[in-house]
Amino acid sequence: MSNATLPLIIKSLHPVFVAEVTGVDLTRPLSSDVRQAIWDAFNEHQILVFRDQALDDETQMRFSRSFGTLERMEAHAANDYRPGHIAVMTNLDADGNRLPSDHPAMVHRERNEMWHTDSSFKPIGALTSLLHARIVPPVGGNTDFASARAAYASLPAARQAALEGLQVIHRVIAPNEGADTKAYSEEQKKRLTVVHPLVRTNPANGRKNLYVGSHAHEIIGMSLQEGRALLDELTALCTQPQFVYSHVWRVHDLVMWDNRCTLHRATIFDKVKYQRKMHRTTVAGTMPESLLARLPEPVAA
Ligand SMILES: [Fe+2]
Repeated sequence: MSNATLPLIIKSLHPVFVAEVTGVDLTRPLSSDVRQAIWDAFNEHQILVFRDQALDDETQMRFSRSFGTLERMEAHAANDYRPGHIAVMTNLDADGNRLPSDHPAMVHRERNEMWHTDSSFKPIGALTSLLHARIVPPVGGNTDFASARAAYASLPAARQAALEGLQVIHRVIAPNEGADTKAYSEEQKKRLTVVHPLVRTNPANGRKNLYVGSHAHEIIGMSLQEGRALLDELTALCTQPQFVYSHVWRVHDLVMWDNRCTLHRATIFDKVKYQRKMHRTTVAGTMPESLLARLPEPVAA
């Protein structure tokens, strides 16, 4: 049963990416035509914004499963080592009290303030993350997004050719954290060290992009210093102002971003004065990438 009339209303929010989609109620099941229209818009615009969606965890998971299998989060301090399909980004405890800034969950969440793409430390990086606003501060706490597709397209053809074929080692810990970080177990650090190509291609439209961010540590075949310098340069390129959109949250916004071709970061807000609570679901990617040219089959709950 459809809950929307095609075509959906899709309004661009930025010169190079990001669109707002209206005319659909995501709390209700989608017809296959609407699901396909959202998938097409997602591949084109990389980030979709849906306003006024009164989702709960169940309906958020159902909509997310329209695009594949949900990732289970890794166990860490921010989920009290009890990972599920919903990641809660908040400065509140379970009783709604503000957490002190030195609480392990708060310290862990600070790593979201670095430019990154979700789950790039997994053998198959995430396809999309969907973040839903439950409580937002009156000022601050934006999420910044960067188009690594537009950044790649801005490079001269010779530079693009030089980058293509390079392979990057991604790790669950960031390069500046040091090897002795206690944030993850030795098992996790070993399992969550993987190799991805530096340049990826969206199989639905052939558009290429850089795949970098805070988990990208080294480039195979280069010295540590040389690889780091190149990764830093490319992350800086992707996050130039002309490639960045900063989302100002309203309660019941849902933002769905393409982890294959965009970077994002949390921005600061007054965590003593204000409350913020966001719920995230993440849809796993699949391999080979060529399969993603088609809309994945929806997954039953
Ligand atoms: Fe993230």
